[in-house]
Amino acid sequence: MEWILRDAHLDDGGADVAAAHTLVRDLARFEKAEAEVETRAEEFARHASGTAPVLRMLLAENRSPEAKGRIDGLACYGWQHSTWKGRILYLDDLMVREGLRGQGLGTRLLAELARRARTQGVRQMRWQVLDWNTSARALYRNLGAREDAGWVRCHLSAEGIERLARMA
Ligand SMILES: CC(C)(COP(=O)(O)OP(=O)(O)OC[C@H]1O[C@@H](n2cnc3c(N)ncnc32)[C@H](O)[C@@H]1OP(=O)(O)O)[C@@H](O)C(=O)NCCC(=O)NCCS
Repeated sequence: MEWILRDAHLDDGGADVAAAHTLVRDLARFEKAEAEVETRAEEFARHASGTAPVLRMLLAENRSPEAKGRIDGLACYGWQHSTWKGRILYLDDLMVREGLRGQGLGTRLLAELARRARTQGVRQMRWQVLDWNTSARALYRNLGAREDAGWVRCHLSAEGIERLARMA
């Protein structure tokens, strides 16, 4: 299989952004959390635009003639700041189309992110993985990632934000 890695085009009538959004949904379904996807493709386009985009989409485009430019993998990421580490790369989604896994594409996407992180002088790449996703965890460990035992992920839902904001 022949893939090229490239950034999503934002001026192609929305095809790349739609493909990315579909893969993000597929990943959420894989993670048994499809209902949690509240974003729409238009929002991706907006957040990926401008001088300081908060969303970046690295895509794997299939160059085989029969694939017709199909997007088979993606890494959604952004630059964030940590008071401990300075500029960090936060990886939000990593996904390779079902049936095409285990051919090195996930590793290529992660390696390209690491290359970009290095050019920005980043001290840490950060992401999360579900505890039962043992094959992805094994891949990350093989690539040198360490798991942060002892940390618990927290979030506030829209209702939680609303309630807490009223206390301001
Ligand atoms: C995790 C994922 C992105 C890795 O991409 P990939 O192209 O399959 O990975 P690579 O081919 O570079 O590496 C293969 C390794 O990934 C791991 N792996 C994870 N899920 C796998 C799958 N469904 N099929 C094959 N390998 C898988 C294996 O440990 C494998 O190691 P091995 O080569 O020693 O057997 C991809 O398998 C995937 O999209 N999985 C479903 C969604 C997911 O788990 N995303 C990550 C959420 S944090």
